[in-house]
Amino acid sequence: MPLLIRLATEDDINAMLRIRLDAKENILRTKLTYDMVASAMRKDCHAWVALYHSHIVGFSIANKKNHSVWGLFVLSSYHGQGIGRTLLEIATDWLWKQPVGFFRRPCQKIWLDTKQGSRAEGFYQHLGWQRGENLPFDEVRYYLYRKQS
Ligand SMILES: CC(C)(COP(=O)(O)OP(=O)(O)OC[C@H]1O[C@@H](n2cnc3c(N)ncnc32)[C@H](O)[C@@H]1OP(=O)(O)O)[C@@H](O)C(=O)NCCC(=O)NCCS
Repeated sequence: MPLLIRLATEDDINAMLRIRLDAKENILRTKLTYDMVASAMRKDCHAWVALYHSHIVGFSIANKKNHSVWGLFVLSSYHGQGIGRTLLEIATDWLWKQPVGFFRRPCQKIWLDTKQGSRAEGFYQHLGWQRGENLPFDEVRYYLYRKQS
C-alpha cells in the first residue's frame, strides 16, 4: 500500500480535525479547535499524518512534556490496515527520546487515555500497553513501559 507517514504541519490541522470528527468511538466531550491543536504543536506536541495517495487518512499527536499520546485516529474506512500501529509507533518512538525532569533522565513510561470498552482498548492491549486506572467519563488510562535492555 502506498502509505506515507510524515510530520504534520499547521496546514494539516483541518484535515486532522475532520478525521477526529469521523470517529465513532472516543468522540469528543469538548470541541477540539484549530487553535488548540496549533498551539499544542507550537509548544510541547509533535503530530504525524498518514497519507494514502496524498490523502490524509490518519494522525497521531504526542506530548513531550507529560509523555502522553494525546491523539490517535484513523479514518474508519481505513481501519485494520496497520495505519494505527504505524502512527502509534512513530509517536512512541519520539516520546521515548524525550528526557524527563531537570536531570533529563530517560523516560520510563508513557501513557494515554481512551474510552472503556472501545475497539482502541483491544488495539492498545494487543500492542503491549497495560491497563491502568479507570477515569471519569468512562475513560481508562493505559501505560507503556520502557523495555529493559
Ligand atoms: C484504534 C485505531 C487507531 C486503530 O487503528 P487501525 O489502523 O485500525 O489499527 P491497525 O490496523 O494498525 O491494528 C494494529 C494491530 O492491532 C490489532 N487490533 C486492532 N484492533 C484490535 C482490537 N480491538 N483488539 C485486538 N487487536 C486489535 C490488529 O489486528 C493489528 O494486529 P497485527 O498488527 O498484529 O496484525 C482505530 O481503530 C481508530 O481510529 N479508532 C477510532 C478512534 C479511536 O478510538 N482512537 C483512539 C483514541 S485514544
